[in-house]
Amino acid sequence: MTATPQIVAVHLGERSYDVHIGQGVRHSLPDIVAALGARRAVVISARPPEWVPDPGVPSRILPAADGEHTKTLATVEEYCRQFAEFGLTRSDVVVSCGGGTTTDTAGLAAALFHRGVPVIHLPTSLLAQVDASVGGKTAVNLPEGKNLVGAYWQPKAVLCDIDYLTTLPPREMTNGFGEIARCHFIGAGDLRGLSLREQIAASVRRKSEVVAADERDSGLRHVLNYGHTLGHALERATDFSLRHGEGVAIGTVFAGRLAGELGRISQARVTEHHDVVSHYGLPTQLPSGVEPAEQIALMRLDKKATTGLAFVLDGPDGAELVTGVPQDAVAKVLASLSREA
Ligand code: GLY
Repeated sequence: MTATPQIVAVHLGERSYDVHIGQGVRHSLPDIVAALGARRAVVISARPPEWVPDPGVPSRILPAADGEHTKTLATVEEYCRQFAEFGLTRSDVVVSCGGGTTTDTAGLAAALFHRGVPVIHLPTSLLAQVDASVGGKTAVNLPEGKNLVGAYWQPKAVLCDIDYLTTLPPREMTNGFGEIARCHFIGAGDLRGLSLREQIAASVRRKSEVVAADERDSGLRHVLNYGHTLGHALERATDFSLRHGEGVAIGTVFAGRLAGELGRISQARVTEHHDVVSHYGLPTQLPSGVEPAEQIALMRLDKKATTGLAFVLDGPDGAELVTGVPQDAVAKVLASLSREA
């Protein structure tokens, strides 16, 4: 280990845990497994064996494949059958090692098997380190939509090893920066001048504060979905060829413009949305071929849209959920984000 890791605590009473951030933190897995008193482990890994730390107890490795198309109930069933064959019990532990789709799917399998087995996440993508692995949301997709079946299941620890990020293709790093960019507008402040480790720690710290205040997403936690309403619609419309963080980035620019259109923020703040997203090399316009009318129809299906169109928007009191947003304002802003505009 080359530098002292940063530790961010997620305060949730008896379900509290630490997020360890730094180079080489994956090597603390055996100590964490030992502290849990787990006797055996199943490691669900989307990474090559040399990147998977030994949990220090008898274990089985289940290979996984990152990607939205494998984030299904069929994959969860397969993991649970493997747990049963291995004889996994609630005194044991599941370890996930992969991107956000792997931590989500492994987390849900751990939540369901024996009605809950401890899980430790080793997120290996930037996106999973700053968002998906922290906060206890686990879910899989249905053909009808993303993350429709899931559970809240907090991990026992999260090990964000920065060494993993050295193996990522550039587009995958940029994908993670989409989630970091949106932190700028949900109370984390300007992270642009910080080191990568500090940006990860700041993003995790902001998320941990929000999750501690609203674990079950009944109010404040909505702010974590800043930029996500359009982002999710764009992912669906492009059959996930647009990556999650890229969709969130475009959704963040959209949220800024919509807040400006509704008179909630100044023009300078609208421009700041564009500047922050551009700083990270992320897209700021709708991909070509995306139809604004289809996006509006998809955004009406968003979980938050119980009464018309709803978005998390910046305003005088910071980001908050705004319901009943007029469709003509949304259409106008979408048109301004079209490549042809
Ligand atoms: N990714 C949003 C949340 O954890 O609530």
